[in-house]
Amino acid sequence: MNEPTGWDDLIEAVRPYLDTLIDTQRKPSTRPVLTDDKTFYESSRAPGPVPEVSTPLPELLDEIVLTVLERGYLNGAHPHYFGYFHPRPLPVAVLGDCIASLLNQSPAAWRMGPAAAAMEVRTLAWVADFIGYRGAEGSALPRGIFTSGGTMANISALKMARDAVLGADVRENGLSEGSPHATVYVSAEAHYSLSRAMDMLGMGRHSLRLVPTDPAGHIRVDALTERIRDDRRAGHRPVAVVGMAGATATGAIDPLAELAAITAEHGMWFHIDGAAAAVFADLPRTRPAFTGLALADSVTLDPHKWLFLPYGLGCLLVRDPGRLSGSFSEQAHYWSHDGRTDFVYLGPEGARPWKSLGLWLALRHLGREGYERLLMGNLDVARYLAARVRTTDGLELFADPVVPVCCFRAIPQRGVDIDAYNAALHEAVLRRGDVHLTICRPNDEVYLRVAINNHTTRAEHVDALLDAVLEARTTLGR
Ligand SMILES: Cc1ncc(COP(=O)(O)O)c(C=O)c1O
Repeated sequence: MNEPTGWDDLIEAVRPYLDTLIDTQRKPSTRPVLTDDKTFYESSRAPGPVPEVSTPLPELLDEIVLTVLERGYLNGAHPHYFGYFHPRPLPVAVLGDCIASLLNQSPAAWRMGPAAAAMEVRTLAWVADFIGYRGAEGSALPRGIFTSGGTMANISALKMARDAVLGADVRENGLSEGSPHATVYVSAEAHYSLSRAMDMLGMGRHSLRLVPTDPAGHIRVDALTERIRDDRRAGHRPVAVVGMAGATATGAIDPLAELAAITAEHGMWFHIDGAAAAVFADLPRTRPAFTGLALADSVTLDPHKWLFLPYGLGCLLVRDPGRLSGSFSEQAHYWSHDGRTDFVYLGPEGARPWKSLGLWLALRHLGREGYERLLMGNLDVARYLAARVRTTDGLELFADPVVPVCCFRAIPQRGVDIDAYNAALHEAVLRRGDVHLTICRPNDEVYLRVAINNHTTRAEHVDALLDAVLEARTTLGR
């Protein structure tokens, strides 16, 4: 029988691999942007039974290094990765994850980690302060909750909206049959997590009203007010408006102050999905675009995007923290409560890893100034790319970047279908293998999408990206 490896043997076994592992983050440019061996994926469908006998640790480490890094690795830290939000994690944030795992504290309740819970409360307050979402000072409850990501934060926000607007009875008895549709409004650029929330909360995906956007991807306020009016006339109950503060595809920021006024007029909840970009809300150069954010009832923000945390940390901030317990309170005879923070009663999740330790470390280590420098660096690179697109023959910008997302497309010869052309161009760029970007379809038109979510990306890297696009265009023909 084999015993689990103890700490001393583990440290010895890991030592020879440390440089290779750390170099994935320290020197990401020495590896391809993406390795994707399809046979690896195919073999996962026939996993076989659980291994009967023990495998020595060095063999397993070999397998991780070889299999993952050589055969199926998205190198999100590479400055030529411009795809989905995939931050290059800050070293101190990775350290936070390591320490949190090692100590195995959970901030879910003070009994599961008294210091972890207390530090998490403070970290939430700092995030709220960082984005200028102040208020509720003096509340005994924390400013929000950390979640596994933006999806859970959005689902939790719409749950609070549902309970606040329809009344507490919905928690006990659910949505009764034949009751009016509880409707939620968001731009057509919404993240899919909102539709999932409607489904999971029993309000139904059809009750999510996708409101058309203007040419730059912002919700059309005239269309929104008309839709709310029509729904009211039809006997439905408008529950919430969700403003996008950094739409996933385009980075567009809705006119938040106008949305706040509409929700106030109709007695609706105002949620902001700022998973991607709310961190830019209170920085001098980007602040004006976020006017109205402070009026929201709740804000989603993902530290595992532009706060450069490793995956696994989302956040939901609320104006009135009492709403969290109003929506998520529970009782259990085996769980005693002494008035200190028990996050298990303030959100949907139970025992959680202490992912916020990495953010606590990063905020302490960098401070507001340090973060501002990294974020403005990303914005400068996106604006540099936009300027280059504007001055390059045959390219067209979707909109000026307000946050570090830049969408553009190539204009083919007359008579060629522009959407099919740009989809083919995207494929051709990916086939090269040296840069990675995605496509999107705002207003049903195909654009190449570039997100700068790596704090070490510089102008020279987007130069390389543009070179790749222009060369692929030459290969493809215009
Ligand atoms: C605007 C927006 N909201 C929500 C999410 C969901 O976040 P997560 O993938 O962390 O659940 C994303 C993800 O990209 C997003 O861009």
